Amino acid sequence: MKSVVAPLTQLHHVLNDDMVGLNNVLLSRLTSDVPLVSVIAEHLINAGGKRIRPLLTIASQRLLGALKEEVLYLGAAVELIHNATLLHDDVVDGSTLRRGQETANALWGNTSSVLVGDFLFSRAFQLMVTCKTEGVLSVLANALANIAEGEVMQMTQSHSLNLDRETYLLIAKRKTAGLFEAACTIGNMVGGGTPEQIRALATYGRALGLAFQITDDIFDYFPPDHYGKTPGDDFFEGKVTLPIMILADILNGRITPSDDTHLHLADVTWLNLLFTEQANRTPDDYTRVCNLCVHHRVFDHCMRVASDFAQQAVDALSLFPETPIRLLLQEIPPYMIDRCHDVCPS
Ligand code: IPE
Ligand code: IPE
Ligand code: MG
Ligand code: MG
Repeated sequence: MKSVVAPLTQLHHVLNDDMVGLNNVLLSRLTSDVPLVSVIAEHLINAGGKRIRPLLTIASQRLLGALKEEVLYLGAAVELIHNATLLHDDVVDGSTLRRGQETANALWGNTSSVLVGDFLFSRAFQLMVTCKTEGVLSVLANALANIAEGEVMQMTQSHSLNLDRETYLLIAKRKTAGLFEAACTIGNMVGGGTPEQIRALATYGRALGLAFQITDDIFDYFPPDHYGKTPGDDFFEGKVTLPIMILADILNGRITPSDDTHLHLADVTWLNLLFTEQANRTPDDYTRVCNLCVHHRVFDHCMRVASDFAQQAVDALSLFPETPIRLLLQEIPPYMIDRCHDVCPS
């Protein structure tokens, strides 16, 4: 029977002592003798977030045995990197709400956010370099380079309906899935995983990260309860994501619409104009896009893409013994998809 408690919450419970340790490491790294640095860092990190990446780091090590302290430092480094990218990403995206509160850029301005983002990166480096396990530093360094490249690719290529599926997925892989992959990989490396086990967890993290980014892109149009961000951020910024790409494919006849739908030429022309640089996107446009997505069952298509990645993630874990941690890790991807089904009108 499917549990009523979300697997992420269950994993937090199972790994509670480890996560408390990790949180202590994390908070201890936010101090600075420059007051504004700590104020901004604590503003974001004390607001919480799901802490999914460090949870994956710990779980990936714990698949192979008792806790190794090194993993707490690495998990904290991963969460610091994630938070640094959020500070930068909110500036780039012009976002004003994150984790249910005003963003640092809205409160203290873009310059402060970028500089404190850099501070969080440097604190992450300080933690990373204490790690003795071979290979870990290069995995994290590669993930970091990919995030920066993914964000630049997004800036240059995601504001046009010419964006193709392959490029969209490559951007998602670089900006999001790469850190999920690294989080899992380094945990397993510290745990002494075999090359085969490490590869399996890399696949799990990457596929989970891709499914995660797709669901995040769906939530911009149909947010869940306690979303904590402003719905429509992607839309008003003119960022083309999978829901928009699929809507465009349906309106242009590249995907066959379901039997009972009618295509209107006016919708095609309007959508094409909406995702141009000069376009002025209004709240009415946003509502019309949401309605068209519902009408043409766009979310069914998005969820099929996300489900394929979720299944790849589940399959990747098959070579690990069926411990409670493996079973919970395995429940996360399908739960993510179910959660999306809950919010998307059908
Ligand atoms: C947000 O990540 C950025 C994306 C990759 C979509 P999370 O949804 O994990 O953010 P927090 O840490 O829980 O706030
Ligand atoms: C997040 O992408 C990727 C990084 C933070 C690197 P998004 O821009 O979709 O994330 P949200 O929606 O702002 O959390
Ligand atoms: Mg953003
Ligand atoms: Mg988003």
